[in-house]
Amino acid sequence: MAKPEAAVPLIVTLDGPAGVGKSTLAARLAGELGIAFLDTGAMFRAAAYTLGEGAWDWRQGILQEKLGEFEFSLAGSGRQTRLLLNGKPLPEAIRSEEAGRWASQLAVVPSVRAYMKMAQIFLGQTTSLVAEGRDMGTVVFPGARRKFFLDADPDERARRRCHQLASQGRPADFAAIAASIRQRDDQDRNRPIAPLKPAPDAVVVDTTHLTEDEVLRKVLDLVRAD
Ligand code: DC
Repeated sequence: MAKPEAAVPLIVTLDGPAGVGKSTLAARLAGELGIAFLDTGAMFRAAAYTLGEGAWDWRQGILQEKLGEFEFSLAGSGRQTRLLLNGKPLPEAIRSEEAGRWASQLAVVPSVRAYMKMAQIFLGQTTSLVAEGRDMGTVVFPGARRKFFLDADPDERARRRCHQLASQGRPADFAAIAASIRQRDDQDRNRPIAPLKPAPDAVVVDTTHLTEDEVLRKVLDLVRAD
């Protein structure tokens, strides 16, 4: 039987730029803590992929109507956490670089941000979460118990992404991935609403020269120290 949730769910936020390793860390951290993880980038990717290219130029009213048909939910916990859209698992195609760029473009639209914020807060009201994204600590969960901001040199992030793609047997062009990462950094850091930046009370971890295990240990020690 599932463990009953504590009265006030535990929220740990992990923010940072594309390719810094947030998703992997969020899944491992959630596994160690026995709670779910929320990949909010996947929510933006799923919306961008479902609505299609150019949705960011639609009228706000139409976008709101379409977003009203979306319902995100979580199943399971730890590394087995699954994010569902209208009860179904998200398609693997949302993981492409193109879907990432569409998501980044859609993520500047005010009605999209408002919808996602509402959906994320709703999930965090009943479920303890490691919530990862761009504005988890600054906008969506300002009262989170612990906040982390992961960063790493852009070329190192591109190398990690290439390595991840290669290990999945997918094509990986370093120059194209590095360019895409820089383009998304620029878009995510400089947008007017909820730009990517560390919350004032976030612990900033530069992971450029750290292994995945070292980052996990550092973050876990701080969460457990609370
Ligand atoms: O983390 P990711 O690469 O899967 O995210 C895809 C895009 O979605 C990212 O470039 C910007 C957007 N995003 C956002 O604006 N806010 C979030 N909390 C998460 C993602």
